[in-house]
Amino acid sequence: METGTADFVVIANRLPVDRVLSPTGKTMWRTSPGGLVTALEPVMVRNGGAWIGWHGAADEDVEPFEHNGMHLVPVPLSEDEVAEYYEGFSNSTLWPLYHDVVAPPEFHREWWDSYVRVNRRFAEKAAAVAQQDAVVWVQDYQLQLVPSMLRELRPDLRIGFFLHIPFPPTELFQQLPWRRQILEGLLGADLVGFQMPGAAQNFVRLVRQRVGHKTHRDTIYLPDGRVVMAKAYPISIDAAGFEELARTPDVIARAAEIRESLGNPKTILLGIDRLDYTKGLRQRLRAFGELIADGSLHVDDAVFVQVATPSRERVQQYKLLRDDINRLVGRINGDVARIGQQPVTYLHASYPRAEMAALYRAADVMVVTPLRDGMNLVAKEYVACRYDDRGALVLSEFAGAASELKSAYQVNPHDINGMKSMMLAAINAGPRENGRRMKAMRKQVMENDIELWANNFLEELTSDRELHEKNPRPV
Ligand code: G6P
Repeated sequence: METGTADFVVIANRLPVDRVLSPTGKTMWRTSPGGLVTALEPVMVRNGGAWIGWHGAADEDVEPFEHNGMHLVPVPLSEDEVAEYYEGFSNSTLWPLYHDVVAPPEFHREWWDSYVRVNRRFAEKAAAVAQQDAVVWVQDYQLQLVPSMLRELRPDLRIGFFLHIPFPPTELFQQLPWRRQILEGLLGADLVGFQMPGAAQNFVRLVRQRVGHKTHRDTIYLPDGRVVMAKAYPISIDAAGFEELARTPDVIARAAEIRESLGNPKTILLGIDRLDYTKGLRQRLRAFGELIADGSLHVDDAVFVQVATPSRERVQQYKLLRDDINRLVGRINGDVARIGQQPVTYLHASYPRAEMAALYRAADVMVVTPLRDGMNLVAKEYVACRYDDRGALVLSEFAGAASELKSAYQVNPHDINGMKSMMLAAINAGPRENGRRMKAMRKQVMENDIELWANNFLEELTSDRELHEKNPRPV
């Protein structure tokens, strides 16, 4: 097969750009706010890198183009593929299954067929743009078959895979009718990265049990002599970038303005999430509503601002959630609001990074209580913005971030009473106590940023270590 020119290739379901209309009506592309592209852009520019991904619209072919020194290769999806591969298998089968089945996963054979077809398309694009011996990094649950499909087309490549979401316990993974194909798909990579060590262990155990390969700790030995490593690389954010943004006069002024327009309450609590059923929004809002209703908090003193970014809006479970949250917010505000004083401010919208930073700066208590979350970057963003060492973080123990942010007020999001008392503890702790906690969390976040994460992964992937020597094959 003919090779391309890119020395470093990223494959993700989405391209790292959003389409925007210029004032003159011309289509332009703007880098999306995600941390992944921030970390990888310099690596891409240095290596003549290419990024392969969907551009976000159905039934449309977009030619490859250059953006900020990166070669972007759009992958087309038909209307049916958006419904079956993206909304279906990726987000109504894998997403709930991998998040502890907090919503019931649906298993449909046509969705699987579409997933296979689209994964093959991504693999073929990558095979065409990658130079001989290039490094390819495949991202996330939408593309778990790409590593093995790509290896078949291009055995010369060094292939890495990173799963941004949790990898489920073996008992749940076994429900998947296509469990073996997914495991074999991932085994096409040389290095499979997870957020947590437990996830890597789940994967290795499943490979041993279901595929029958020999394994030893984080190493899998394939019958053809190839070796696959499975390890944890907890992802992070552009921590310095967030702090810098939070320090700008505009953001500081905007934070003051936000406080003012909320009526200068004693305490602002804040949640920022994609509108997703894994995020524990219902439980969190109920806990806050009860604190007001039972008199633990006074409606003049505390305000909860919940930003819910629209997400996957055509998927049934997301539609149900949206209606549920609307009703719940209406009920809480209806029950306990006073004229001019609404306890919950609910914003179903997405905001630019600077507005987020202002909200983080305005918030006394950040409430991040997912039922299950691979990492949760909002928790880390909040910490990065609190260079004043003020503020408190209430954090679910079921978010990956909990194992790094040990000084957060950790909660079990299913335990409403427990959450209520932790929110109160965070609100009532003095600045000394919260300052101590915030300092410890800041050290962790500022020292372990997204650049270090990417470097660690890519170093392991590209190191010329003699795997066989380091990890002798068990007999
Ligand atoms: C999670 C996933 C990403 C995904 C993002 C937004 O963070 O791990 O792969 O891109 O959600 O979801 P969307 O479906 O809009 O791409």
